[in-house]
Amino acid sequence: MDIEAEKIHRLEMGEIPFYEPGLSELVQEGMAAGRLSFTTDVSRSTTAEIVFLAVGTPSAEDGSADLTFLESASRSLVPHLSPSAVVVTKSTVPVGTGEKVAAWCEIDDARVFSNPEFLREGSAVSDFLYPDRIVIGIPASSFARREGGFEDGAVDTLVKVYIGIDAPRILISRPSAELAKYAANTMLAMRLSLMNEFATIADAAGADILDIERVLASDPRIGSKFLRAGAGFGGSCFPKDVLSLATTARHIGYDPKLIAPIIQVNHEQAERFVKKIEERLVGISGKRFAVWGLAFNRNTDDIRESPAVRIMHLLLDRGAVITVYDPSAMKHARAEFGEGVMYADSVEGTLTDAEVLLVLTEWPEFCEVNWKDVLARLKIPLVFDGKNFLPHEAIVTAGGEVMGMGVWKKPSARS
Ligand code: UGA
Repeated sequence: MDIEAEKIHRLEMGEIPFYEPGLSELVQEGMAAGRLSFTTDVSRSTTAEIVFLAVGTPSAEDGSADLTFLESASRSLVPHLSPSAVVVTKSTVPVGTGEKVAAWCEIDDARVFSNPEFLREGSAVSDFLYPDRIVIGIPASSFARREGGFEDGAVDTLVKVYIGIDAPRILISRPSAELAKYAANTMLAMRLSLMNEFATIADAAGADILDIERVLASDPRIGSKFLRAGAGFGGSCFPKDVLSLATTARHIGYDPKLIAPIIQVNHEQAERFVKKIEERLVGISGKRFAVWGLAFNRNTDDIRESPAVRIMHLLLDRGAVITVYDPSAMKHARAEFGEGVMYADSVEGTLTDAEVLLVLTEWPEFCEVNWKDVLARLKIPLVFDGKNFLPHEAIVTAGGEVMGMGVWKKPSARS
């Protein structure tokens, strides 16, 4: 159920309003089997055993999560919930929101659960079907009953939803589940900002961040994922959630010391990337750039908080001339930049008259090009890798120079 009739209409026609690999097939399969339907009519909730609330919680002006949509969705349920229905918050919400949901829905607190989601845009379907864990946040009264060894029908109703999904179930208190979601995103964002700081230090010291990443990744205490430095992270989750956690902490009386700088470092990372370009090219004004990638992540058309967008604006402010291509975000690119840049419909199309190449999203297809051909079409055989993910050796072997964040590779004098 959604209040946007246009969105529901498109979904009924089998059209997914955003790009997410595998989602269209799954939706069609569910519709064909009669297990999935779409509506704008909230009264259809009357027959539901479980209602998932999955509305957006964007940043409010003060950095906290704006719960307006959650409140209106909850209130709209009031006359329509069956007496035994369970309400589950999937939206990312500040610790303590479960109580508010119960009040807005006018139901007993014991029927409101938290069930945070850990999927990533671009790999959402497989993240959902093969999760690392399923977290279920249980209201205080049910939690006490379970601890005392009593059965609780509402808990079981929710647990049963995930039958068939092979992952550990973590049943914790509702506030813990709400906070765990923010803790997970903030931990990941902090890793990235820390790696990005290491990359800046590596640049200044003549070290290579990719070597450092290998050393860190080989330590099981650290783990190998989410260590890739670059020109900053983006998306609709990390920046908003880190900010929201810091704001929540302040509201409940603790001024966090580590959390705020995560965003600061990330914000400056795009500026550092542009400064690197400016220094290497001795100025940006009038220079022509080919840009590959605008989405904040591979396999998505989402450009919200994308470092690529910020970098392009910084370059345009300095007088750059840009031709951009993204495999799926061109519609959003046109909405963002209008006549301000030129658009290509392929990677090759960006290269006409380009001086250098900037790669700003880690789309796998960007690695698969013929580097000799690409470099031959650039005025300077120089690639700025904003995601540190391109095949640097292949570019160097083809006669090119690569600058990433904390990485600089160029052909040796002999080659
Ligand atoms: C993130 C979390 O990873 C999910 O677990 C969570 O469910 C989701 O937020 C959410 O709260 O809804 P998402 O933002 O969709 O998922 O995508 P990520 O794959 O986490 O990427 C975020 C940003 O970090 C991207 O800009 C990506 O390029 C960047 N990143 C990621 C790096 O710069 N380096 C890395 O090593 C990994």
